[in-house]
Amino acid sequence: MTQAPYPALRLRRTRATAWSRAMHAENRLSPADFIWPLFVTEGEGVEEPIVALPGVSRWSVDRIVDRAREARDAGIPCLALFPNTQANRRSDDGAEALNPDNLMCRAIRAIKDAVPDIGVLTDVALDPYTAHGQDGLLDPNGYVVNDATVDVLIGQSLNQAAAGADIIAPSDMMDGRVGAIREALEEEGHANVQIMAYAAKYASAFYGPFRDAVGSRGLLKGDKKNYQMDPANGEEALREVALDLAEGADSVMVKPGLPYLDIVARVRDRFAVPVFAYQVSGEYAMIEHAAAAGAGDRDALILETLMAFKRAGCSGVLTYHALHAARLLNG
Ligand code: PBG
Repeated sequence: MTQAPYPALRLRRTRATAWSRAMHAENRLSPADFIWPLFVTEGEGVEEPIVALPGVSRWSVDRIVDRAREARDAGIPCLALFPNTQANRRSDDGAEALNPDNLMCRAIRAIKDAVPDIGVLTDVALDPYTAHGQDGLLDPNGYVVNDATVDVLIGQSLNQAAAGADIIAPSDMMDGRVGAIREALEEEGHANVQIMAYAAKYASAFYGPFRDAVGSRGLLKGDKKNYQMDPANGEEALREVALDLAEGADSVMVKPGLPYLDIVARVRDRFAVPVFAYQVSGEYAMIEHAAAAGAGDRDALILETLMAFKRAGCSGVLTYHALHAARLLNG
């Protein structure tokens, strides 16, 4: 009898049934994988839908506390806060970032008061506070100056830590800021406040809806290419990560997310440290618009993209879909 030309090994065998697929899954998603970014605004009882981010709103401090409870109840371990600072509190030097009673600090205190068992991550960069929308201080030519900006970022970090922030996340891409912030946190008695460095943050076209959400889009002239990374570069991301780790970062972030999963995988392979990715506003909007146009099933698109982060090696993902995805997973 001649041997039929059947495959010697059938990889389809383990895929044949749901129980077998579950048993062979290499990665799993859980609500503990998510960090939920939230936008906070002035007022009381306020919800302001953000047109550029369908399904996402800015919340006043009293109502953001309710979101924190929902997140905790769904098993989400951590929130990321971003303020939509009132126009009359924005200035060229972003001094409002240092105000102990600014919107951000009031939101941190309210959440830590009402829901002490959820983590609060705070963004460090001046763009929600500057009248020009850049992340740092400008010289007369409009160039974002590095070291003077770092001095302000130190103050901003201490201000957030004093209000109760658990994780300081510098997103400004100034050189040397992680070490400077770490040293200041130690000196001021915040030894257990973590730093998650936006280590590989690219000058991306995917941040547009976020700039609407924090009210900096109309203010920003030009771009952020002289401090955020060039999307052409991968090796440079590894240098950024190495520096931030040497300066004391507890974890690192890659941003944006899906178009940069190669960077996530390389960082994970090279450094074996906790790596997070930010599925940014433009990525969120792409999924929402694609689903609304009938290009795919919304829930399936959401869960597949989030799983891709896990497969690439992420410890967790910052995603605007966090609450919805957590509830889907909880069933
Ligand atoms: C501020 C900051 C930005 C984002 C997070 N922190 C915008 C920017 O760098 O212009 C973008 C997040 C998103 O698009 O969802 N430095």
